[in-house]
Amino acid sequence: MDLKKYQSQLNNIQTPCYVYDLNLLEQTLLACKNAADKYNFEVHYALKANVNPAILAAIQAKNFGADCVSGNEVKAAINAGFSKDKVVFAGVGKTDQEINEALALDIFCFNVESLQEIEIINELAHAQNKIAKIALRLNPNVNANTHHYITTGLSENKFGINFWELEKVIDLIKISPNIDLIGLHFHVGSQINDLQVFKNLCAKVNEFTAWFDARQIPLKVLNLGGGLGIDYYHPTTNNLVNFEAYFAIFNQFIVRKPGQEIHFELGRSLVGAIGALLSRVVYIKEGIQTNFAILDAGMTDLLRPALYQAYHKIENLSKQHESISKKYDVVGPICESSDCFGKAVELPITSRGDLMVIYSTGAYGEVMSSNYNLREKAKVLLLQ
Ligand code: LLP
Repeated sequence: MDLKKYQSQLNNIQTPCYVYDLNLLEQTLLACKNAADKYNFEVHYALKANVNPAILAAIQAKNFGADCVSGNEVKAAINAGFSKDKVVFAGVGKTDQEINEALALDIFCFNVESLQEIEIINELAHAQNKIAKIALRLNPNVNANTHHYITTGLSENKFGINFWELEKVIDLIKISPNIDLIGLHFHVGSQINDLQVFKNLCAKVNEFTAWFDARQIPLKVLNLGGGLGIDYYHPTTNNLVNFEAYFAIFNQFIVRKPGQEIHFELGRSLVGAIGALLSRVVYIKEGIQTNFAILDAGMTDLLRPALYQAYHKIENLSKQHESISKKYDVVGPICESSDCFGKAVELPITSRGDLMVIYSTGAYGEVMSSNYNLREKAKVLLLQ
């Protein structure tokens, strides 16, 4: 994201403020679409990454589907104009109310995560006189080599159905008249930059599909999840994800049946690079070992550094021509020691009132904010 292009819009900006570059979003969506269309792959946007209405509108206008993990996300997707035939509903703990609402909306598919969930969806679908289409989320036991909080595909994680439960699941589906099994669903984790992980996933998916083939159970859809990472270290120079390489891996390694649909659910790679959090320095405090730059943004606005020790590049936009630099711990105002955006960050000499940018916050930034300490939510500015 190149903020220099938008300098005039930033002059009197009220902070903290999330800014989203809608031109970069457009470029990213086109790059993804072109790469996926090559192989006739379908991409669903994982709404959990960002639900800003302008962003949803842009993504839906490009004919992406929607991957939702709550009843409210399903409603947000439908309200934003996503076609109900392209809305999937995933999650380990869907409530009866959420399932009922999604059934009433005739969404494309439920990604189911347990035996008991199949029983309940069957019951609720029966009561509404509907047939619920489902995909089984299987746990492929592939290590995503990412932060353990965002690893989801290991057998120790709460997600998905394990291989040893499959016979039981199939028996249950056979006696569930209001369930239509249309496919399989996989997701191994997030912020994955090592494409080998996806190659490993393909190998596991092929093993699972062979199991279904052997039992002559047709699978119309293979949903291979999301997880493609972005470059948090070079947000201004490398902000377009290599979708070509990502989809090429699946095209090369997935054994695809004629007519079988291949779906993906991407979040971070579509919106991560298009956002930044702008904040002003409230105070500079000199310590013995370190200096603190205390910002008006905190972990309530951007939780990732506190929760996952995630790296986000930080720059001082007010001192771009200053040559003397110093190290600062860049922290927020919240009463928690984990409220820190970066330790020993090399910055030009920084003063009260300077405008700071925390890059790559388009995904899992604003959506994970809270009003802890009774703080107000950060403002939002669309750059175009
Ligand atoms: N599909 C499923 C089933 C998922 O659980 C997720 C993300 C996605 C798709 C989208 O993954 P993506 O393409 O965005 O990697 N809050 C964390 C990330 C949590 C991701 C949860 N699941 C973070 O800030 O890094």
